[in-house]
Amino acid sequence: MEKYSITTAIDYVNGEPHIGHAYEKILTDVLSRHYKKRADKTFMLTGTDEHGIKIQKTAKSLNITPKELCDKNASAFIENWKLLDIDYSKFIRTTDSYHKKTVQDIFEKLLENGDIYKHKYKGLYCSGCECFLAEKDLDEAGCCPIHQKKPDVVEEENYFFKLSKYKEKIKEHIKNNPNFIQPDFRVQEVLNQLEDIEDISVSRAKTNVEWGIEVKSDPTQVIYVWIDALSNYITALGYDVNGNHGQNFIDFWPVNYHIIGKDILKFHSIYWTGILMALGVELPKGIYAHGWIMIDKNKMSKSTGNVVSPKSVMEAFSLDKPDSLRYFMATSAIGGKDGNYSDDDFKEKVNADLANNIGNLLNRSLNMLVKYFDGEIKEEFINDSLVKETNTVIKEVLDLFDKMDITLAASKIVSLADEANKFVSEKAPWALAKEGKLDECGKVLYSVLNLMIKVALLIEPFCPNIAKDMALQLKTDINKKYFEIEDYMLKTGKLISKEEIHPVFLRLDSEIAGKSKKN
Ligand code: ME8
Ligand code: MG
Repeated sequence: MEKYSITTAIDYVNGEPHIGHAYEKILTDVLSRHYKKRADKTFMLTGTDEHGIKIQKTAKSLNITPKELCDKNASAFIENWKLLDIDYSKFIRTTDSYHKKTVQDIFEKLLENGDIYKHKYKGLYCSGCECFLAEKDLDEAGCCPIHQKKPDVVEEENYFFKLSKYKEKIKEHIKNNPNFIQPDFRVQEVLNQLEDIEDISVSRAKTNVEWGIEVKSDPTQVIYVWIDALSNYITALGYDVNGNHGQNFIDFWPVNYHIIGKDILKFHSIYWTGILMALGVELPKGIYAHGWIMIDKNKMSKSTGNVVSPKSVMEAFSLDKPDSLRYFMATSAIGGKDGNYSDDDFKEKVNADLANNIGNLLNRSLNMLVKYFDGEIKEEFINDSLVKETNTVIKEVLDLFDKMDITLAASKIVSLADEANKFVSEKAPWALAKEGKLDECGKVLYSVLNLMIKVALLIEPFCPNIAKDMALQLKTDINKKYFEIEDYMLKTGKLISKEEIHPVFLRLDSEIAGKSKKN
């Protein structure tokens, strides 16, 4: 049986979700939906990271308890992912009791095995990063380069994980498994970071950080938020330190990918790898670090006031379905590099690709079928060149997904519709009908509609609602697997009536866009 499992980072709940968080969840969901059409069983995990000094401080500044802050913002994340049709299998909150228990067990196991020891330490802690920074990590002003804030000086006796013990083993694994860290250009960066790796502090004194999971054998300490957070990937699946794992852990670990942002690659490729090695748990098959989404080419930040939320985009454009935003976001950052969101780019791209190219073509073709054939397919026909082109694109799309080149995969699908548009312009079925060449006209329409089914099935991971709507008008089951697509053909007989035809996507600047409430 073929299986595919994938995870996102779990987001800090000190604020509401923004378009960068949304990008990662959309990208992961597109991958997961794509593999639903290939594998027998799939699992997608997402959730929220709810402990640590950052959450504690934010809650205090708002005069609410950390738990109240977590509940409020976890709901906001869940609501946004619903709006975006993120079809996850499980949503974990690190305040969930089963997670807390397993994290405590993991910590005790590492203590018992001698991988964790107690040590007095003085360091510089950035609450934004939730980690200690070295002097050399700071900028000229002595600030964290990501959060532009001076780290706190922390002097504590806490627990340390013997990460240095696993340094060589981690290096070996990275070198022997070229797909472990993706994209390729990130590998050297990790190997360089590995050179400086020392043992890491994995607990904080409760007198300094209250909001965390207590160390079971020493309640004066709470477990370091990154140990807590990284463990979500296995606790959510039902990992058990004594080996009595839940079925999801048996079925879906190791995952195919952890999808994360480039800023947290070190935690995943080095810290998490070391912990899994110490626990004797298999490593994930891959870690994919995506780039960051900028807004109008600027870094998004609360202080700049340019934070864009997925909900705000949907409201601004009166979108009743997320497909266009999903499509734009999923294709906005190429090959793990940074991407950009701007209202103008968004409008231009989705109008061109989804409205003009795909939507119009389907609409025109169906209308001609009704006009000239009363919506009936008279005969099945194989247009050799279009069928060949379609099958090539299907193979290319699968291959590009394997290579994690999602942007190019999408553009291959759109260019297939583009080919069909050119074909229609060239053959001019309306002129054929006028000349009385109905046979030929029918073949042209059949060829295009048959191709549009494949477009619908291929675009589904990006645009599930549009695809469903296309399939509905083409009387096809949208849940077909890819291997079933190639030979699938429209059957003769009545396909559609005038009343059933409706646009699957309206231009964002059209007057009626957003006001249509079609499913
Ligand atoms: O780092 N563009 O949480 P987080 C693209 N809780 N991705 C972005 C982004 C942007 N502008 N801003 C943030 C954490 N992200 C931890 C993760 S995982 C065990 C724990 C991405 O809320 C970021 O790179 O700061 C990360 O992958 C995710 O959003 C959550 O970021
Ligand atoms: Mg962050």
